Order: sequence, then C-alpha cells, then structure tokens
Amino acid sequence: MSEHVIVERQGAAQIIRMNRADKKNALTRAMYAAMAAALNTANDDPEIRVNVILGVPGAFSAGNDIADFMVVAAGGDGGNEVFDFLCALAKLEKPLISGVDGVAVGVGTTIQFHCDLSFATPRTVFHTPFTDLGIIPEAGSTLIGPALLGRQTAFAMLALGEPFSAERALDAGLIYRVVAEDALEAEVLSAAARIADKPRTALATARRLMVGDSEALVARITEEGQLFRKLLTSDEAKQAFFSFMSRKK
Ligand code: COA
Repeated sequence: MSEHVIVERQGAAQIIRMNRADKKNALTRAMYAAMAAALNTANDDPEIRVNVILGVPGAFSAGNDIADFMVVAAGGDGGNEVFDFLCALAKLEKPLISGVDGVAVGVGTTIQFHCDLSFATPRTVFHTPFTDLGIIPEAGSTLIGPALLGRQTAFAMLALGEPFSAERALDAGLIYRVVAEDALEAEVLSAAARIADKPRTALATARRLMVGDSEALVARITEEGQLFRKLLTSDEAKQAFFSFMSRKK
C-alpha cells in the first residue's frame, strides 16, 4: 500500500484519494498498485457499490511520475503496476465517479475515459501531451477516445495534445458536469449515494452493456503498453523527460 493513496469507505462508496500534493499527484508505481488493489477489491466486496476517485485541491493528477519513465528510458524495469491499474479500470464491475480539480495530465485525463460520471471544477485543465513527450496515448484511450469524443476531437486531445478546459471537456462529452471547487466533493458523494441506492443487478447490467467489450479494451491497453514502453527508450522521449526534470535548475 502507498502512503500517497488513501482508501476509505463512506457507506457503500469506496473512496480512493490520490494524495501526493507536493508532486501534484504524479503517480508512482506504489500509487498505481494501491489503486489497482482497491478497484479489484471493489469487484469482490458486496459492501462496495460504487467507487470514487479524487485528488487534492488543485491537482487531480500530473500523470505518471516522470522519474519512473526515466528509469525505463534508461533500460530499467518499469514493473507491471501501471498495466495492472489500467486493467483494473477496464475490468471494473462497479461504477467509478471522479472529482477533478485543477491539474489533470496524462493518465489524470485518460482515467476519465473509464469513469461513469466525471465532475470537474472550472479551473480544471485536461491535458494529454503524450506525443510531445515522444510517447503515445494509453489506458485504452486510442479505442475509447474516438468512440466517446468523435475521431477529430479525440485526435486534437490525444494526438495533438491540445489542453481542454473543463467547459470544453463538458462540450466534448469527456465529463458529466462542471461544479464549483467548494461543491466538488459534495456533488461527487451525492452522485455516489444515488448510485448506491439503485437496484444492484440492474445497475451493474446497464453499466456492463454501456462499457462494452472489456476483453477488447484490455487487448488495446496491452498493445498500447507494448508500444509505449518501446517509445520510452527513444531519444525523443529521453530528451523530453530530461528537459522536464532539469527545467528548474
Ligand atoms: N512527474 C514527476 N514530478 C512531477 C510531475 C510528474 N509527472 N508533475 C509534477 N511534478 C513535480 C515537479 O517536478 C515539482 O517538483 P519539485 O517541487 O520537487 O520541483 C512538483 O511536482 C510541482 O510541480 P510544478 O511543475 O512546480 O507545478 P506547476 O503548477 O508549475 O505545474 C504541471 C504543474 C502538472 C503543469 C507540471 O508539473 C507538469 O507539466 N508536469 C508534467 C506533466 C506530465 O508531462 N506528465 C506525464 C504525462 S504522460
């Protein structure tokens, strides 16, 4: 378990909070492992009817920790934690609701493709600068993105790396609602309570039909992951990571 992920229960809701504020919730391998474990637990625990994922004020997540990318870029072992987390998202059997405030970079944005309801504050910016980093979109976003947003909007977000404001993300269909910062968590928890009150089997069945083929999704996550790992060792990627890590020096 990671000290940077807090998992709590509130009634029938499992609340997963990313809590590494000093690094804007950049995700480490330990954080991915903790979140994957929580999501997998939810599938098996009848007491949990809905999952909630939150960040800290001003930072949902700055994406994968770039120091971890650099380990792989240098030929090291990246572990399976990211893949396990993404598969846990794809295989999730119960609803996932997010509350997003502020920074939502990389996987901080692509998590939304797996959410049933995403709430974001007006100051939130969704940004997936994958190609600028010499890597590619992940988390099954190359499959879900075009289906959810339309091919061209998905291209603008995922391939061009255009930042999307909360309003634009709402218009594009990436998120469900924009709510004020001080109302965010109450709105998210109220939606979780509404979900938890629904007849269990009917809700799970409706969700499963809407999510679609999870095997195809896992296959795409696997394919993306293989290509992503290869690209992490490219000169373009190494240069981009080095520039970020040395920008303040
Ligand atoms: N990996 C590792 N560290 C990260 C990080 C990441 N993805 N994102 C932020 N951090 C660290 C910064 O290095 C900084 O650490 P320091 O205080 O020890 O120097 C701290 O978090 C705060 O970040 P900072 O850049 O000072 O905050 P900001 O508000 O000016 O900018 C971001 C926030 C998210 C816009 C900016 O940090 C950023 O672009 N991060 C990289 C995002 C990214 O490319 N992620 C990978 C996507 S695939």
